Amino acid sequence: MNESVYALEIKNLFKTYSSGTQALTDVSLFVPAGGFYALLGPNGAGKTTMIGIITGLVRKTSGSVAVFGCDIDTDAEKAKAHIGLVGQEVNFNPFEKPIDIVVNQAGYYGIPRSVALPRAKKLLQDLGLGDKMEERSFALSGGMKRRLMIARGLIHEPRFLILDEPTSGVDVELRRSMWEYLRTLTVKGLTILLTTHYLDEAEQLASRVAIINKGAIVVDGTMSEILALHDESEQRADGFRGGKLEEVFIQLTTETV
Ligand SMILES: Nc1ncnc2c1ncn2[C@@H]1O[C@H](COP(=O)(O)OP(=O)(O)O)[C@@H](O)[C@H]1O
Ligand SMILES: [Mg+2]
Repeated sequence: MNESVYALEIKNLFKTYSSGTQALTDVSLFVPAGGFYALLGPNGAGKTTMIGIITGLVRKTSGSVAVFGCDIDTDAEKAKAHIGLVGQEVNFNPFEKPIDIVVNQAGYYGIPRSVALPRAKKLLQDLGLGDKMEERSFALSGGMKRRLMIARGLIHEPRFLILDEPTSGVDVELRRSMWEYLRTLTVKGLTILLTTHYLDEAEQLASRVAIINKGAIVVDGTMSEILALHDESEQRADGFRGGKLEEVFIQLTTETV
């Protein structure tokens, strides 16, 4: 009834912070269900603001947001239940153990401890933290902290996972295994929206992409549509790949003077 083919529908979203900063200007974005969607943009473009609004942490100025057809204003509880968030900043209590951090999170969604405990153990194991579950979280490496946040974001089995710069500070090997794991979840039907500075990762993972600059979407479409914007005349098509998205990104987000 309420079902939407879109994991996320954003219409005419505006955000002006009380400081006067206009962080989002008439943003509309549609994320189809399934797979990876990359939201890319330079620092300060408005990505985290947008994610804050979707997840109910930031109040929008105007516009509408729906998650799987559930409006974040009129159907907030359902919308929130659909979303898992892995925020840009590490924000768990470092004196708690990973297992407690994940199980306690389940409590916010009304999941009984008897259900949450085995689920949390499985998630932590799957994310390579099986032998760290009972240790104090401050002892975890940067990459482990990120993976703990992913486990926490998945404990209520959301259909839509939002990852805000999940691999910043994570080494290459770990990044790869993290994406492999997340890919297995998308195969099972999870939709993932991610922001990242690693454009090569975005290019390999995402089937759709939007580029935001100074609070406005400058382009969005399938990855192949976006890559087709690449100006081949500037560089010989000699098989060099992986930098293509980066070049499109730079073309679209750099000021021309
Ligand atoms: N809490 C806040 N109060 C005032 N301005 C903010 C706040 N959070 C972000 N901004 C401003 O909003 C703009 C967008 O920031 P942000 O959404 O964090 O961008 P991104 O995540 O793309 O780097 C920036 O100009 C930033 O300084
Ligand atoms: Mg940000």
